[in-house]
Formats: sequence, C-alpha cells, structure tokens
Amino acid sequence: MNLKKIIFATGNEGKMREVRMILEDLGVEILSMKEAGIEADVEENGKTFEENAAIKARAVMELCGETVLADDSGLEVDALNKEPGIYSARYMGYDTSYHVKNQSLIDRLEGMTGEERSARFVCVIAAALPDGRVITTRGTMEGQIGYEERGTNGFGYDPVFYLPEHGCYSGELPLEVKNELSHRGKALRQMKEQLKRLKEGTA
Ligand code: IMP
Repeated sequence: MNLKKIIFATGNEGKMREVRMILEDLGVEILSMKEAGIEADVEENGKTFEENAAIKARAVMELCGETVLADDSGLEVDALNKEPGIYSARYMGYDTSYHVKNQSLIDRLEGMTGEERSARFVCVIAAALPDGRVITTRGTMEGQIGYEERGTNGFGYDPVFYLPEHGCYSGELPLEVKNELSHRGKALRQMKEQLKRLKEGTA
C-alpha cells in the first residue's frame, strides 16, 4: 500500500508528540488534524474503546480520504465494575477537577486492600484506511488505585494510579519512562508494526 501520509485525529498536542516520537521511523508523514486543515467534532457513541476509536478514525478518514489514526483510552477499576472505563473523561462531569475525581475513586474503594484495588489504563488505537478497512490495537498498563494522590507528572488519573512493580505512582514517572510502560505507548508500537506490514504490502 502506498502509505505516505497519516493523519492522527486528535487536538491534543501532548498525544501528537508521543505519536510522532513512536512512529518516527516508519518513514511516513504524520499530521495532526489542524496541520491537515480538518475540523471535526465526532460524537463518541460507541460502547467499547474499540468502537469509539474506530468511529473517530472512520469519520475523519471519510472527510479527507487519507489513512487516519484515532485513539480512545480510559481507566478501568475492577472493584467498580470497570468504571469509569470509556466514560473516564466524562466521570463526574467533564469540568470536575481530577483531584475530585481521584478522591472519589479512593473513597469508593474504602476498606479494600492490595489486589482488591486492581485497575488498568487501556488505550485502543484505530487505523481507518481509505479502502474502508479498520484495524485496531490495544495496550494496557496494570496497576492499583492508591490510597492517596502522588506526583505531578502526567495528567488525569495518573496521580492516583499506583504501579506495584515500580513502587511508585504513575504521576511520579518521568515522561520517557511513562511512554515506555504506558497503555498508549504499547498500543502505538503495535500499530506501528501493523502499518509497517501495510506499507510493505504484506498485510
Ligand atoms: P480520551 O482517550 O482522550 O477520550 O480520554 C481518556 C480519558 O482517560 C482521559 O481524559 C483521562 O481521564 C483518562 N486517561 C487516559 N489515559 C490516561 C493516562 O495516561 N493517565 C491518566 N489518565 C488517563
């Protein structure tokens, strides 16, 4: 497949930096929607991370006719029936501060210890190809809901996400380390392999 240009459907500059860093050696030009001159506000009305990422990628691909990548991510807390899940950004309202959201998770897990507090970050990347195919990859980062908030790195639920194997909170990880371990980094690296195969004509 003649893959020269990919558009990543996000308005988030932080995500764009991470995407460019990871996909750099593909030899394909990676553009944000803004750089490609596309404006779209797609309603994420799917029931899974896969559906939402695919809805976004397909909608933007139909607008521009190029290969489009989109992601959808969130936090699943096992003891809360995998909440907030696909509703992570909307949990308790878009405008509620993450300090309040994080504190709410801590409160809801009161009395639970160790593995009872298990949780994971999930990220799904979808690629919508001009021929109509949609490919998805999924990455996860396993951990636990901590007993307090720690660290000022990252964003969202990072300060409340404890990584037992590393003995620290996600909010305490330097960016390069988080990119190595993160759900988004893992899903992106898998997507890179898929795109490589498409480019070489072996998929
Ligand atoms: P979206 O994928 O940009 O629609 O939003 C996913 C939401 O999940 C974010 O707004 C955060 O609340 C949460 N989230 C996803 N990835 C991370 C992460 O790496 N750290 C902290 N929160 C995250």
